[in-house]
Amino acid sequence: MSLSTVTPDHPELNQFAGQCQQRVEQALQRVLPAADTLPSQLHQAMRYAVLGGGKRIRPLLVYAVGKALAADEQALDIAACAVECIHAYSLVHDDLPAMDNDDLRRGKPACHKAWGEAGAILAGDALQALAFYLLAHAPMGKVTAVHRLQMIERLGVAAGSRGMVGGQSMDLAAVGRQLDIAELEDMHIHKTGALIRAAVLLGTLCAEHVRDSEQRALDHYGKYIGLAFQVQDDILDVTGSTEQLGKQAGADHALNKPTYPALLGLQGARERARELHQAALDSLAALDQRADPLRWLSEYIVGRTS
Ligand code: IPE
Ligand code: IPE
Ligand code: MG
Ligand code: MG
Ligand code: MG
Repeated sequence: MSLSTVTPDHPELNQFAGQCQQRVEQALQRVLPAADTLPSQLHQAMRYAVLGGGKRIRPLLVYAVGKALAADEQALDIAACAVECIHAYSLVHDDLPAMDNDDLRRGKPACHKAWGEAGAILAGDALQALAFYLLAHAPMGKVTAVHRLQMIERLGVAAGSRGMVGGQSMDLAAVGRQLDIAELEDMHIHKTGALIRAAVLLGTLCAEHVRDSEQRALDHYGKYIGLAFQVQDDILDVTGSTEQLGKQAGADHALNKPTYPALLGLQGARERARELHQAALDSLAALDQRADPLRWLSEYIVGRTS
């Protein structure tokens, strides 16, 4: 799935996204264990879950931060791969029968449909471990050991019970219950926002010199677009088609999930997404045009159709 098919009117974003997608695809190919390495079925399932699909928004954010801060290129590849491995694992587990019970992901059978439930659980487990191994071990140019450790810490918090997994737990506990907007927002900030925010932070940690003010600005940006991303995901579940999304449309309604459109209506959800986009742009006010890819990505996140 390429961004260019959904943003035909934004050539600069398309060019940036196309280059980054190609770059992260190659890096992922390299860092994932080969399909014939034993246990080969597990490694095939991991490669199935990660390669050849997905918009790669989180890697794009890592690279866009890297561009704004002139960060180390080798380190950006590893940070992008680590975040995408966590994301791909979260999708594999999210689709399991015990969770959202979805059969379609990224336009093909969900991992458990292709590799069985146990195979998908293990592939997810191994992808999570791989992310941290990469940050600890893979060559990252001039990045210091202290920065590596901070990346591991940030990703650990974002992926765990105080981040994505915590949000997933809130999501499952909320099924069929009426949440208020503050509870819904809290759930979204955790289940999706935390990892997107971490992608931005990992990007900053790939740079040698970052001013505190820049770091804070980028972190605010990450917080706003992280929430905006899930608001738009909820909207697309209502407005998108299964073919367009590459995953089952209408799944939230079928499972009685609390969502932004369910609480605010479609119009209210769209307005909230726009507000968050504006807040993200405002956060970047002091950064020069090297931060433009971040601005384009924020626009993309709330305007996307898949
Ligand atoms: C879908 O994420 C799941 C959420 C966290 C909302 P993406 O929309 O980024 O999925 P891919 O990676 O493009 O398949
Ligand atoms: C998923 O949220 C968030 C994750 C941590 C994977 P959803 O359940 O809404 O994601 P989709 O719509 O299945 O991609
Ligand atoms: Mg879910
Ligand atoms: Mg789901
Ligand atoms: Mg969804």
